[in-house]
Amino acid sequence: MSTVLTIGVDDALSAAFHEISGDVLALGPEAVAEGTLTGHLAGPHAPALLVLGAQVPLRTALSLAGQVDVVSPGTSVVLVAFPDPDLWQEAMRAGVRDVLSPHADAAAVQAVLTRATGLAQARRSAHGAAPTAAPTRRVVVVAAPKGGVGKTTVATNLAIGLAAAEPGSTVVVDLDLQFGDVAGALALVPQHTLPDAVRGAASNDPLVLKTHLSRHHTGLYVVAGSDSPAAGDTITAADVARLVDMLSREFRNVVVDTAPGLTDHTLTALERATDLVLMGSMDVPGVRGLRKELDVLAQLGLVPARRHLVLNGADSASGLAIEDVERTIGGPLDLVLPRHKAVPLSTNTGVPLLEKGGKDPVTRGLQALLARIAPATAPVRGRRARRRAGTR
Ligand SMILES: Nc1ncnc2c1ncn2[C@@H]1O[C@H](COP(=O)(O)OP(=O)(O)O)[C@@H](O)[C@H]1O
Ligand SMILES: [Mg+2]
Repeated sequence: MSTVLTIGVDDALSAAFHEISGDVLALGPEAVAEGTLTGHLAGPHAPALLVLGAQVPLRTALSLAGQVDVVSPGTSVVLVAFPDPDLWQEAMRAGVRDVLSPHADAAAVQAVLTRATGLAQARRSAHGAAPTAAPTRRVVVVAAPKGGVGKTTVATNLAIGLAAAEPGSTVVVDLDLQFGDVAGALALVPQHTLPDAVRGAASNDPLVLKTHLSRHHTGLYVVAGSDSPAAGDTITAADVARLVDMLSREFRNVVVDTAPGLTDHTLTALERATDLVLMGSMDVPGVRGLRKELDVLAQLGLVPARRHLVLNGADSASGLAIEDVERTIGGPLDLVLPRHKAVPLSTNTGVPLLEKGGKDPVTRGLQALLARIAPATAPVRGRRARRRAGTR
């Protein structure tokens, strides 16, 4: 059986799969109606990837995805459709592993294939694997469905906190490829940016890579974001995979700041994450978005065992109570950070709160988050702060 089975996929996209995999069986949409699929999907030679194209009606595709999950759990189902958060959620619930735009380019097709084969391997090795001890190496991914909810604030502060605990141990990567501003939040003017770190010799030689990192005066290493959205567009999911893998061999802690939503780059980083910090804001769309993103990641099997739900910018004037938020997301929040003027001041001056070490509630909350993620490295006062800052 082929690695990839496509059904009802339009010619251009079908060609992209053929080019990248070389092992593709392409069937027309009638294959679904004829019910001939079971023969292709049952048994040890089932495909790693089943792609349901735009010619398969959406309802049929979703119901088929559910059946495949039962008949052939080793097969990842990809749906070709215009992705929007509601569709993502419905698709994931139906057992779809990935949604690919009908206009996806070769890089997106490649990313889907890499993820599908990675998932199949992970499922195989999950059988009989021993329970893992607390990681000595961390890849902490900070994500959120929306922009402006404090991802960069949290990522830079965690990185500063981890670096302070063990000099030379930590690198922060700006994966917000369009509008990232990790360098700004750290008052750095970088000589090299992310595109430099994934090109040429830096892409496979750790020594060269290290010369392409910026260094904050606290000892934190930084992969600054691309200096223009166009340069950011050239970065593929495979680039991100290689970069995060290399950095996590060189550094005990890799902290990844991300763009809003579930981009290929964010999903690729999440496949390597030991910790996910998922952030939401105190408003109805923000809370619903948090719930949806959590659901989708759970369906994708991309929520690491250590996940930290953070509500930022809590404010009694929002008309929402913490209890409302927890009811909507279906469980407790791990940390609530209030709105406070110390944060914009810190962003605008480029001095992270954990570097300054103030007594405001956001600094205390960030210390508590650091203590959750790296208990051994947190200062003793972190434990007192955790109670005051209201972590669970
Ligand atoms: N708890 C907070 N109180 C007040 N302002 C905040 C708070 N958290 C973040 N901000 C401000 O909101 C803006 C967006 O934060 P940022 O961390 O860049 O979000 P994101 O990376 O999710 O887009 C920044 O100007 C920051 O100073
Ligand atoms: Mg940001």
